[in-house]
Amino acid sequence: MSHVTVVGLGPMGSKMAETFLAAGHEVAVWNRTASKAAPLVAKGARQAASAADGELLVVSQISYQAMYDSLGDAGLDGKVVVNLSSDTPEALRRGARWVEERGGTLITAGIMVPPPGIGQPGAYTFYSGPKDVLDRHAGTLAALSEVTYVGPDQGLAMMYYQAQLLIFWSSLTSFMHAMALLRTAGTSPMEFLPFARDLFTQLGSDGPMGYAKILAGEFEAGEYPGGQNSLHMQAVGIGHAVEALAEAGLETTVPEALKALFERADAEGRGHEGLGTVIESIGKP
Ligand SMILES: NC(=O)c1ccc[n+]([C@@H]2O[C@H](COP(=O)([O-])OP(=O)(O)OC[C@H]3O[C@@H](n4cnc5c(N)ncnc54)[C@H](OP(=O)(O)O)[C@@H]3O)[C@@H](O)[C@H]2O)c1
Repeated sequence: MSHVTVVGLGPMGSKMAETFLAAGHEVAVWNRTASKAAPLVAKGARQAASAADGELLVVSQISYQAMYDSLGDAGLDGKVVVNLSSDTPEALRRGARWVEERGGTLITAGIMVPPPGIGQPGAYTFYSGPKDVLDRHAGTLAALSEVTYVGPDQGLAMMYYQAQLLIFWSSLTSFMHAMALLRTAGTSPMEFLPFARDLFTQLGSDGPMGYAKILAGEFEAGEYPGGQNSLHMQAVGIGHAVEALAEAGLETTVPEALKALFERADAEGRGHEGLGTVIESIGKP
């Protein structure tokens, strides 16, 4: 059993506090709007006297500014702050210096599940910062999710988190465009679903459509062989898809952006290479 103070009782922090309690830990809770602590106090948590009341502070708030606002000028001597809030990697690095200046240590984190997933199998969280400090608290943090350490640079946890979300948001937005297009011709989303699921699975596979692995390998090698599947052909193809969406009376912001990126790589003279050559354009805005 460990002592942990949860700072920030939005949907995530509240579920974290509940999960620590269920795992048998001594839990204190603090929130800017104090009334949100009441349901957790009813379940056995202690109302913390301040956000800095405790040795292990697990923070889940809207941004790193909220941590500054909550801790104020409290001394953090010897305390470990584990912040699972989202912000930019640079904000996390600044946060680490801020905590250090006050005598504490910051472990940064990006948690990859919404509230119902906290404490459930398959949940994982990217952590970065000093590994020895994380190791001391990994047993407690394991109540929330698998503890996945990505390195000492405190910005890294957020980079991994955002890397995953970029894939999540963009692929699911494209899925929404796909369903919307088919629905204009009377195909229901559930009729299309098996094909979409198959593609999502295949993209992560080792098969001929296993493009996650293919593109990672090409990026590492710095070579993007086009073969019979050139970027130029795909730049023209996505143009057709954008026209199809427009013909169907749908909005086209994201597909238009993809088209512009493909066309730029093509115009830069790499149309004979494969789709992976787009990575070179992403690296040169
Ligand atoms: N929800 C998800 O599915 C999910 C999944 C993964 C990661 N995350 C990340 O987890 C973090 C928490 O998310 P959330 O969904 O629980 O809710 P949220 O709306 O991002 O954050 C709410 C919390 O932030 C506090 N807060 C906001 N501004 C503050 C300030 N200036 N000073 C002190 N406290 C402040 C709120 O306090 P009050 O109650 O007083 O307003 C509340 O406790 C976010 O960074 C989010 O990106 C969320």
